[in-house]
Amino acid sequence: METNFGDKTAKLRIRNLSKSFSLNGTETQALQDVTLDVFSNEFCAVVGPSGCGKTTLLRLLAGLEQPTSGEVLYGDCSPNKPKCNLVFQEQAIFPWMTVWENIAFGLRRRGVKGAELNDIVKHFLNITGLSGFWNFYPYQLSGGMKQRVGVARAFANDPEILLMDEPFASLDEQNKTLLQDELLRIWEETKKTVVFITHSIDEAISLGDRVVVMTNRPGRIKSIIPVRFGRPRKMMELRKEAEYGALVYQVWQLLYEEVMSSKA
Ligand SMILES: Nc1ncnc2c1ncn2[C@@H]1O[C@H](COP(=O)(O)OP(=O)(O)OP(=O)(O)O)[C@@H](O)[C@H]1O
Ligand SMILES: [Mg+2]
Repeated sequence: METNFGDKTAKLRIRNLSKSFSLNGTETQALQDVTLDVFSNEFCAVVGPSGCGKTTLLRLLAGLEQPTSGEVLYGDCSPNKPKCNLVFQEQAIFPWMTVWENIAFGLRRRGVKGAELNDIVKHFLNITGLSGFWNFYPYQLSGGMKQRVGVARAFANDPEILLMDEPFASLDEQNKTLLQDELLRIWEETKKTVVFITHSIDEAISLGDRVVVMTNRPGRIKSIIPVRFGRPRKMMELRKEAEYGALVYQVWQLLYEEVMSSKA
C-alpha cells in the first residue's frame, strides 16, 4: 500500500504489524504488533534472537507475505523506481548470468539500456571492486565476491528502500569487514533508505543510524537505540571510540535477556 505522508520524512511506516503462520494445524506467531517509522535516507539496523521473525518482517515489508494484521505504508515513492529490493540471507544471484548481467538485471527489467545501462553497471562494478570480473559467472567467484555482486545489483537497481537480510552472515571476518566498509561507502554516496537485519551487534552499531532490538518470538520491538557516530564511518576506526564499547554492551544486555528467556 502506498500513501503520501504529511511530514515527507517517513519512508516506511510499519503499523501494528503481526504475522502468524499455520502449519499442519500448529499456529506459530512470528511477529506481534510491530510499529516503526523508517525515515528517508536512514540506515535502520535490526537485531534479534534467531527465529524471532526478522526475515518475516522483511518479507512483509517487501510484500512477499501478507500480514495477519496491521499494515506497511510506503511514503513518497518515485513511479520510475522499484519500491524495494531485497538482498537475501543466502546468496541469491543468478548462476547462469555473468557478473555484468546480474548487476544489470533489475535495470534492464525497468527498460534502462544502452549507454545509461553501461554507465550504471560500470559504476557499481568499480565501487564493489568487481571491474576485472565483469564477464565471470558466479561459480568462478569466491563467496565474498558473490555477495558483492548481490550488493552491487541491489544498489544499481536504485530502489526507494533497500531491505537486507544478513547479507554478510556467511563470510569470514576479514572479508566481512571489507564488505561492511564498502557498504558504508556506497551507502554514504547513495544515502538509500536501508532496513538491515543482522545477528551481529558490531555490524548493527557500525552501520546503523538506529539499532532496533527485537524480542524473542513472537518478535516485538523491545528497544530502539540511536547511534550517534558521525559519518563517513570506518568499521575498525569506530572500535577506538569509548562510546562504542558502551553501546555494544547496552545492545548485548537487551539481547541477552531475550536469548535467555527463549531457553527458559
Ligand atoms: N512460511 C512459513 N511457514 C511456517 N512458519 C514459518 C514460515 N516462515 C517463518 N516461519 C516461522 O516464523 C518464525 C520466524 O521465522 P524467521 O525466519 O522470520 O526468523 P528470523 O528471525 O529471521 O530467524 P534467523 O535469525 O534464524 O534467520 C520461525 O518460528 C519460523 O519457523
Ligand atoms: Mg532470518
